[in-house]
Amino acid sequence: MNQSTFTLLLALIGGASGYYYEDYEFFPQSIYGYSSFNCAPECSCPLNYPTAMYCDNLKLKSVPMVPVGIKYLYLRNNQIDHIDEKAFENVTDLQWLILDNNLLENSKIKGKVFSKLKQLKKLHINYNNLTESVSPLPKSLQDLQLTHNKITKLGSFDGLVNLTVVQLQYNQLKEDAISAALKGLKSLEYLDLSFNQLSKLPSGLPTSLLTLYLDNNKISNIPDEYFKGFKGLQYLRLSHNELADGGIPGNSFNVSSLLELDLSYNKLKSIPTVNENLENYYLEVNELEKFEVKSFCKILGPLTYSKIKHLRLDGNRLTHTSLPPDMYECLRVANEITVN
Ligand SMILES: *[C@@H]1O[C@H](CO)[C@@H](O)[C@H](O)[C@H]1NC(C)=O
Ligand SMILES: *[C@@H]1O[C@H](CO)[C@@H](O)[C@H](O)[C@H]1NC(C)=O
Ligand SMILES: *[C@@H]1O[C@H](CO)[C@@H](O)[C@H](O)[C@H]1NC(C)=O
Ligand SMILES: *[C@@H]1O[C@H](CO)[C@@H](O)[C@H](O)[C@H]1NC(C)=O
Repeated sequence: MNQSTFTLLLALIGGASGYYYEDYEFFPQSIYGYSSFNCAPECSCPLNYPTAMYCDNLKLKSVPMVPVGIKYLYLRNNQIDHIDEKAFENVTDLQWLILDNNLLENSKIKGKVFSKLKQLKKLHINYNNLTESVSPLPKSLQDLQLTHNKITKLGSFDGLVNLTVVQLQYNQLKEDAISAALKGLKSLEYLDLSFNQLSKLPSGLPTSLLTLYLDNNKISNIPDEYFKGFKGLQYLRLSHNELADGGIPGNSFNVSSLLELDLSYNKLKSIPTVNENLENYYLEVNELEKFEVKSFCKILGPLTYSKIKHLRLDGNRLTHTSLPPDMYECLRVANEITVN
């Protein structure tokens, strides 16, 4: 692979996705390195990133030979349907293992093939045929992505003290499968459970979360004080669910750390009360018929006002004339309010 295709590839896979930014392009360069001759013959190891081995798009049916020294291994877009216990025996210090777009099933991943990789930080098995999350996992893991599989069960996440990112969107998880499974993840900051089959909010999510995506499920209510323990939660998405006024206790979203709340595409008739610190509030495509200033400001005063910058109200039964004139005393710093 020459330098320009390599850069292009990085640009393609390095695109921003939501708040979490894929950091493929920041992989460290080894100073002492290994020459590009130390590479599986069918794969490529760029001269300037000699510890990375690219084996993408090769119709591989199994993991190729992985020579000593490789730290970043890319096996995307192949037909790998099994992993032998010894597949990574020469690279127990592997840091990234990217297996997206293959045909892996749980029963054909043998032994403790991942937990033996004591330095592994990233494990991506997106777009495969998994029915359960892979386990056991190494305690060094920071970023686990298992999106677009058929996962209905979560395996053990015990002892994963450094796991920061878990992406499980586009699976078949129900709330009972999640409850407690993720509880011990003390460093978890980013959890994506969107496009699953949750009809309730799962119990026992780690309170360290900063970002929680639960959109495109079938959630119809929020338990009392559900978000109270999440002292740092900043980004919350619950769009495309079945939330109606009756399912939302009054103080549900009074979370002072929250910066962004997405409740679009639900069945809300009134605007749920939010904390004054909230900056972005998405309520488009609901059944809103009234706008009450007290949803944003409990009291109005010189120093008490809402920090809302963007507010989306389009796709509701509200018009400009139904907005109260004193609204701007509360929404003082809003620079975009979208109404029909
Ligand atoms: C490990 O390295 C040895 C020596 O280079 C090689 O023969 C063997 O195939 C490698 N094993 C794997 C699983 O790649
Ligand atoms: C694996 O997934 C592919 C694509 O989703 C599908 O065509 C295939 O039937 C699946 N194989 C098995 C064994 O489930
Ligand atoms: C977790 O991360 C910290 C800080 O990077 C590191 O010192 C520690 O060894 C890691 N723990 C494990 C089990 O890898
Ligand atoms: C939100 O919670 C704070 C305490 O964290 C409380 O003082 C405030 O009155 C609550 N706001 C509303 C609108 O209930």
